[in-house]
Order: sequence, then structure tokens, then C-alpha cells
Amino acid sequence: MKKKALIFGITGQDGSYLAEYLIKKKYQVHGIKRRTSTPNTSRIDHIFDSVNFNNKDLIMHHGDLSDSGSLYRIINQINPDEIYNLAAQSHVKISFQIPEYTSDVNALGPLRLLEIIRHYKKKKIKFYQASSSEMFGKSKPPQNEKTLFLPRSVYAISKVFAYHCVVHYREAYNLHACNGILFNHESPRRGVNFVTKKIVQGLTRIKNGQQKTLTLGNLYARRDWGHAKDYVESMWKILQHKTADDYVVSTNTSHSVKDFVKLCAKKLNMNIIWKNKGFKEIGIEKNTNRIIIKIDKKYFRETEVDNLIGDYSKAKNRLKWKPRYSFEKLVDDMIKNEF
Ligand code: NAP
Ligand code: GDD
Repeated sequence: MKKKALIFGITGQDGSYLAEYLIKKKYQVHGIKRRTSTPNTSRIDHIFDSVNFNNKDLIMHHGDLSDSGSLYRIINQINPDEIYNLAAQSHVKISFQIPEYTSDVNALGPLRLLEIIRHYKKKKIKFYQASSSEMFGKSKPPQNEKTLFLPRSVYAISKVFAYHCVVHYREAYNLHACNGILFNHESPRRGVNFVTKKIVQGLTRIKNGQQKTLTLGNLYARRDWGHAKDYVESMWKILQHKTADDYVVSTNTSHSVKDFVKLCAKKLNMNIIWKNKGFKEIGIEKNTNRIIIKIDKKYFRETEVDNLIGDYSKAKNRLKWKPRYSFEKLVDDMIKNEF
């Protein structure tokens, strides 16, 4: 009999890659879709029959992390072996605008799932929680599993709450519950309001004459960027280890937002000359002498996470996991998809 995996957040970037990965591993995959006024399944339409709402490898259900009843009904109906909770209000900047909603979904959502699993009688369900490097916030890099959480947004605070719930339910009720503390990971399927996708899409459009300027926020924040395809493999590996535990997943390198812009521009044969400082900083394209990069205060956060570099030694040693995509290969893959 096929193992059953239940993915919350299957319509998102990671959920879509994880679904593909698990189908290849011969799982029967179940996914949760929340109600939307227009279809939100574009990332999984290639593996999902949207007319019949399922196929034999991928079965979709309507549900929402803010609705306990739906979570209880779905888990009981499916009787899954593994649950991956990737669902979240995942945008840090937006969490400054909708803090209560962010906390309800990101903090109470996983708590609701853990409570259901705790009382579940049919089998021992393994649980994966999408924790985040954003939890480290102000802690100096490199960050590992022992680094102090000093969150800088309600998004990060909500993830810290969920992280501790996972550890608590493991210790108090012997649940096989694990945290993957994933550093930033991107792909062609990344949401358009995250900085990497915004840069790749913006510069490509400028190159093609479809857009004049790309307006960004803090160019000097540094992130440890990996590829989502590599990172979903770590999620599965985390749940297969006989001991439930928490792992940092990262590349152990860091680049600034400006580095990302520069590399992307170089790959598109655009030569940018930088002028001025602070909010007045601009990027001019040498060939056309036109301003193509501008800065706007509105894209800055009230509190920023300055530098993230993950030390993934534990995942490497125990899970035999390591990233395959370099920073450069990641940018190549994202650009390729725009043409
Ligand atoms: P994403 O593309 O924004 O996907 C989020 C998913 O959650 C979508 O499927 C979304 O559904 C779903 N969702 C949102 N609110 C929900 C609700 N109330 N009930 C049910 N589903 C809901 O995020 P991602 O980049 O794939 O990230 C996956 C997870 O990893 C998130 O929890 C994120 O916080 C965490 N994380 C991400 C990164 C990263 O760099 N990508 C790093 C560390 C941790 P819709 O499609 O309907 O919006
Ligand atoms: N989104 C965005 N838009 N960010 C910008 C912009 C812009 O125009 N300009 C500069 N930035 C900077 C942000 O201030 C931040 O320092 C950095 O680019 C990355 O921003 P995002 O791509 O929005 O990602 P994030 O690091 O805030 O959060 C992502 O990674 C977390 C893991 O550390 C998300 O995927 C989270 O869900 C995830 O937990």
C-alpha cells in the first residue's frame, strides 16, 4: 500500500515541489486548498486534474488552517502517514500590516494540527513544520540549531511560537514532530512580491522593453539563498530519520540584495552603474544611460533582519543532505523561466 502524505500549503512554491517529489517517491499525496475567488492551483495544475479535483496520485481537499473543524475532518478522512505543514501567511513585510491574521494562521494553525495529531488514535502520524531562519532575526551569523531566536517581525514571532509548540508536543506527548529551519529558498515558482522573483522579473521586463524601472527597498540586507527544489528534499529526509528532531537547512553562504541585482543584470548582459547613497541610490544602465533601479522607502521594513547565513552541518551529517544549486545556478534557473 502507498504511503499517504498530507500537504498544507500545496498551492505554494514549496508545496508544489514537495508534491512532485513525493509523487515520484510513490506516495499518495493529499493537498489542502483554501477557498479563493479565482483558481490558485497554477503551480500544481501540471500534476492535478482541476476538472475532477483529483487524480490517483494527488487528491485535493478544501480546508483552511484557521478552521479547526476542516483540519479534523480532513485528517480523519485521509488517515495520513506524514503531514507537512507548509501553509502560512509567508510574507514578512505584510505581517506588519496583518499581524493578527498572520499569528492565527502561522502560530495557531500548527498548534491546531498538533492537537489533532495528539488525540489521533488510528496511527502515529509524522509531522513536519516549516520553521524559518527569520526566527534568528538579530542573532549574528552563522546561525545553527543552537542560535538564539531574536525575531524582528510578527511573522518571525508566529514561527517561533509554532517552533516551540513542535518541540513541546514532541517532549510532552512523544509525537514524531520535527522543525525544518529553512533559510530563504527561491525558484521560478517564487511569489512575485518576494525580492528575488521581483528582481528577475523586473530586469527581464526592462531588458525586453516592457518595464522602465525596478523599485526596491533595502539593497544591503544579506540572505542565504538556496533553491526550493533542494530544500523540499530535506523536508522528506527530516521526517524519515528515526529520531524526531530539528534541522537548519541552508547553503552556508550569503549575498546582499544588491549582489542579486548585479548577478541577474550581468546574466542579462546589462551593465549597471551605481550612483548616490541611501534612498537616493540609483542604478543606471550603461548602454542606454537610463535609470533602471530606484529605491523607495515603502519597501523597507520597520525592523530588518540584516544578515542570515545558515550552518547546515547537522543536516549534512545526520541526513546526508546538501544543497545542489549554487547561488549562480539558482539565478540561471530563475532567469531561464522568464523567457
Ligand atoms: P508560499 O508560496 O507563500 O505558500 C504558502 C502556502 O500556504 C500557499 O499554498 C497558501 O495558499 C497557503 N496558505 C496560506 N494561508 C493559508 C490558510 N489560512 N490555510 C491554508 N493554507 C494557507 O510559501 P513558500 O515559500 O512555499 O513557503 C512554505 C512555508 O515555508 C511557509 O510556511 C513559509 O513561511 C515557510 N518558509 C519559507 C521559506 C522560503 O524562503 N520560501 C523559508 C523558511 C520558511 P494560497 O496559494 O491560497 O495562497
Ligand atoms: N519583498 C521585498 N521587496 N524585499 C525587499 C525589497 C522589495 O522590493 N527590496 C529589498 N528587500 C529586502 C527585504 O528587506 C529583505 O531584507 C530581503 O530583501 C528579502 O526579502 P523577501 O524576499 O521578502 O524575503 P524575507 O527574507 O523577508 O522572507 C522570506 O524568507 C524567510 C526565511 O528567512 C520568506 O520566504 C519567509 O516566508 C521566510 O520565512
